[in-house]
Amino acid sequence: MAELLRETDKRTHYCATLSAKNVGERVCVMGWAQKQRDLGSLIFIDLRDRTGIVQLAFDEKTEQSIFDTAFTVRAEFVLCAKGVVRRRGEGAVNTNLPTGEIEIAVDEFRVLSVAQTPPFEIVEDSRVNAELRLKHRYLDLRRPDMQGRIIARSRISKIARDYYADNGFIDIETPTLCKPTPEGARDYLVPSRVHKGKFYALPQSPQLYKQLLMVSGFDRYFQIARCYRDEDLRADRQPEFTQIDTEMSFVTADDVMTMHEGFLKYLFREYMGKEPEGDFIRMPYAEAMSRFGSDKPDIRFGYELTDLSEVVRTCGFKVFSGAVEVGGSVRGINVKGGAKFSRKEIDSLVEFVKSYRAKGLAWLKVAENGDVSSSYAKFLTEEENNAIKAAMGVENGDLVLIVADKNKVVFDSLGALRCECAKRMGILDPMDFKFLWVTEFPLLEYSEEDDRFYAMHHPFTSPMDEDLQYLDSDPARVRAKAYDIVLNGTELGGGSIRIHDSAIQSKMFEVLGLGAEETQEKFGYLLDAFKYGVPPHGGLAFGFDRLVTLLLGLEDIRDVIAFPKVQNASELMTKAPSAPDAGALTELGIAVVNEE
Ligand code: AMO
Ligand code: AMP
Repeated sequence: MAELLRETDKRTHYCATLSAKNVGERVCVMGWAQKQRDLGSLIFIDLRDRTGIVQLAFDEKTEQSIFDTAFTVRAEFVLCAKGVVRRRGEGAVNTNLPTGEIEIAVDEFRVLSVAQTPPFEIVEDSRVNAELRLKHRYLDLRRPDMQGRIIARSRISKIARDYYADNGFIDIETPTLCKPTPEGARDYLVPSRVHKGKFYALPQSPQLYKQLLMVSGFDRYFQIARCYRDEDLRADRQPEFTQIDTEMSFVTADDVMTMHEGFLKYLFREYMGKEPEGDFIRMPYAEAMSRFGSDKPDIRFGYELTDLSEVVRTCGFKVFSGAVEVGGSVRGINVKGGAKFSRKEIDSLVEFVKSYRAKGLAWLKVAENGDVSSSYAKFLTEEENNAIKAAMGVENGDLVLIVADKNKVVFDSLGALRCECAKRMGILDPMDFKFLWVTEFPLLEYSEEDDRFYAMHHPFTSPMDEDLQYLDSDPARVRAKAYDIVLNGTELGGGSIRIHDSAIQSKMFEVLGLGAEETQEKFGYLLDAFKYGVPPHGGLAFGFDRLVTLLLGLEDIRDVIAFPKVQNASELMTKAPSAPDAGALTELGIAVVNEE
């Protein structure tokens, strides 16, 4: 039977902090039984806490009642053990464990809690399916690798707080029951009981509050902020996630980037023991697209895009020349060493680009011995083929992959394909950290579907001074004072210098097709605030979950979130969301029309 903890049960050490230097000391440890080994006259129990494992030993010298209790212990029982640290017997030393040279000869022992057999073993790298892990997340989090990740997250959070506090940033909490925000994703709504039929929104980010804090004169703000976005989930997206959110007054884009670069360098020094190698290059959006087909390029490897449009403009192969004729382009990547891909693997790459709406993928493979095979060469003259090879810098062992289409499709598909090929070539080292800033984003994005412009970042982002003149005549041409920090193909954070002039802000709303009345209703408070003296300001938010994920060399942000949601936005352990009591809905004045 389980016993209570007594006043005299004071833990002296965490399990794995004990070592040969403690030999002869009497200690008290507490934790979970990893396993019990019964060798007849000897019993060993591996005791585990968040630091690791220590061995408890029971033998013929152990008091009988303690020996009998040790006999009943099963995996995951919670124990309190006291005794003297001694060296393990010859041959019993385990060099794999920090505590492998010692054991505790137990002379006082209590079972604090018994445990059923858990649905999976509490070990590192458990191969249990994700659903079972999430259903019993409290057990999953007991596994050493998961504990390590959550503890690492806490350390990184502390480092961030230190850096920003040391640089004069003031930690200010902003509301999480807000007026709906205009940041692109769908809002999570919270009904108001007092104001029937009205709703709060959970914040997609603290964007407008942090700008208002600049109006208030706080000068530098930061917050580790929870954000909520009702959007489709992926490996790098959760409906609720955390940002390291910041804002600064009297700054240019360069000041903001330099400040946050400082954070990343500090973080690497503190956490990794060294700064990331190489500079934080700054690359305009247009260059990122033309070289990498992506606004978040992974620059750990080459396979850059080459524009073949001029080379094939007049060729006889309609797939190529036709795309150029209608204003699209033909571009290719040269996967160095890719000739080792089999025909079947190339076919799967053809399928891969189709999910990016490419109609096909033309390829040319030059084996190490110079043998050439190709899906398109037969449609071109020898001269044209040679021109493509020259443009692509083809050598033996290469695989050239070409897409002809509308520019957006060409960039999307080749941008993703180069990363896919790098993955398949096995050349990506998750612990090789290559940062870059992507700058000069377009201010606006045109939606053909809705026949209107949307803000690419958000409607408060400032146009670049030299492009302001095109805001009326050619909005698509206007670049923004916006920047993203990109790490190994992931958008780690983003921000901008904000519009601080109400005339430009009103113009921006106009371009976005918002009428005066609508802007007043939605953002009147911001426009009003701007009438009372607003400093030039700008900021940036890091995706904290993504930052931790990448730093730990992981891929899925769920691995660094204690209680994440699954693909369909539900939480498997608590089964949220769920239907509220009927009474609660009546009180809110809400009726559900369409149940799941
Ligand atoms: P943005 O929308 O770019 O900017 O968000 C900033 C960063 O937050 C992370 N992020 C997410 N992480 C996990 N799950 C999600 N669903 C998710 N969505 C975004 C990304 C992203 O780079 N208010 C502005 C910042 C500013 O302008 O200062 C903002 O929220 O890493
Ligand atoms: P087809 O004439 O349709 O058989 O195409 C000949 C080759 O061109 C095949 O290898 C196709 O995969 C490839 N192809 C077809 N459409 C495209 C495209 N839009 N971009 C690049 N290659 C394509």
